[in-house]
Amino acid sequence: EKKPHEEPTKKQKQLDDFKIDHDGKDLTTDQGTKVSNTSESLKAGERGPTIMEDFHFREKMTHFDHERIPERVVHARGFGAHGYFQVYEPLTDLTKAKFLQDPNIKTPVFVRFSTVVGSRGSADTVRDVRGFATKFYTEDGNFDLVGNNMPIFFMQDAIKFPDFVHSIKPEPNNEIPQASAAHDTLWDWVVNNQESAHMMMWLLSDRGIPRSFRMMEGFGVHTFRLVNAQGKARFVKFHWKPKLGVHSLTWDEAQKIAGKDPDFNRRDLWDAINKGEYPEFELGLQIIEEEQEFDFDFDILDATKIWPEEQVPVKIVGKMTLNKNQDNFFAETEQAAFHLGNVVPGIDFTNDPLLQGRLFSYLDTQLLRLGGPNFHEIPINRPVVQYYNNQRDGFHRMTIDRGKVAYFPNSIRNNYPMPVQGKDGGYEHYQEKVEGRKVRTRSESFNDHFSQATLFWNSMSPAEKKHIIKAFHFEVGSVMDKKISQKVVDMFSQVDTNLAREIAKGIGVSAPATKNKTKITDTSPALSQENTVKTAR
Ligand code: HEM
Repeated sequence: EKKPHEEPTKKQKQLDDFKIDHDGKDLTTDQGTKVSNTSESLKAGERGPTIMEDFHFREKMTHFDHERIPERVVHARGFGAHGYFQVYEPLTDLTKAKFLQDPNIKTPVFVRFSTVVGSRGSADTVRDVRGFATKFYTEDGNFDLVGNNMPIFFMQDAIKFPDFVHSIKPEPNNEIPQASAAHDTLWDWVVNNQESAHMMMWLLSDRGIPRSFRMMEGFGVHTFRLVNAQGKARFVKFHWKPKLGVHSLTWDEAQKIAGKDPDFNRRDLWDAINKGEYPEFELGLQIIEEEQEFDFDFDILDATKIWPEEQVPVKIVGKMTLNKNQDNFFAETEQAAFHLGNVVPGIDFTNDPLLQGRLFSYLDTQLLRLGGPNFHEIPINRPVVQYYNNQRDGFHRMTIDRGKVAYFPNSIRNNYPMPVQGKDGGYEHYQEKVEGRKVRTRSESFNDHFSQATLFWNSMSPAEKKHIIKAFHFEVGSVMDKKISQKVVDMFSQVDTNLAREIAKGIGVSAPATKNKTKITDTSPALSQENTVKTAR
């Protein structure tokens, strides 16, 4: 159903100020001087050498020489679109976040969907996790929900992320294989990090090959906090539910499309929006009261666990509509900088050790990727409210900050008075009580790596189970080192013995060497002492 033309959002209007139309305009240099000829360089004689004086040649060539920036270290390939978000009902009881108070407020958003492993030019329809990052341009500043299309993650502690990514990216000696989970290093990492069992089940399921960005769920993954105006906090998980439902490709389709149309997913999104078939996603919340923190047989701070929806229902609270394509891929999609640490009053963090580590990583990597500390001034990253602070200088500063004072406190300018705690709308961190010894260890409550993987397996239909087994055959079948393949079979026997037997049949290794409930040693120090695994059976 085609939607009527919709008014541009405040963000879309803000971006208009930066847009240039080139039609019918004379060619100029970067300095605005008209150019007479851009196809012949200035030469000393018709057959002579090009001369240094040719400022147009030098400018054109040096710009070209500097046109690339580093691609994202993960999620390099992505595609963005603009839209807006509206809540259905005021969520005043749950949070003081202003954009969640009033159903009449349309909060502008920019969303970037991505694959994780492949480089910028890789194919869309590979088996991989998909990123689903949303920037809400709220009146309280930017809130970024930097999620994925799977509700959990490969590891529990962020410090393992560099190891994991080194294992799943192309191997460093020959940069093979591109964008594939089929290699020794990944599976070696998996068997040495058994907390990945649940996520690997999701990755090898049909969720790993979505048919369309419009037909994917999104998940914030971590446990966050919502805080209301009275200071009451609750644990929350964020969900996006696509109005079109969740659909996947088959593996055969995915492989063929990767060859025939590597842009399949981005083209689908672009075309749908151009046709007025605006993708819609409903926002869902799972809420756990603070008093219920320890009521579950998993730790709610463990990012390898879902909160089963039967136990904690998803409450649908609003809807996001993507109604406008970007005008310029580089300026918008490529320069967009999402960061989990971009929060607004009413939304806060928890001690999930994966979340805590991510809080460091994004700003750090963007300082490099986007060339210094002023990337918040790039149009796509600017909030729709003006920022005021004492940050100055740095590469490519755009703002002309007036006045001689750039420090606090000061008695000359006498502004930015310290907000009075709680009264002036300044961001206040939730005053969670934290106490403990400094230790490099993980809580025992994070030790069960298999129950939910089994739950996931048991929830699959026979056809879905067949797809998972085939995916194991394809991915683990390419592993050269049979010791690793054997360990995979042994590891997944802890999810389900039949699953492990079926995997073994297709990859030329023995049926599971171990039975359910046997110990498998995890090499991570925190778990090496006593790692008896609870199973769901
Ligand atoms: C992108 C780090 C886990 C979702 C990135 C980038 C880094 C990073 C460095 C590139 C950012 C940029 O260049 O702008 C990490 C670390 C993680 C982690 C250290 C774990 C410790 C996760 C998880 C999720 C996630 C659990 C999902 C909940 C994303 C998304 C992007 C991204 C969606 C792409 C954002 C975009 O579209 O620009 N991550 N990540 N990451 N990450 Fe993570």
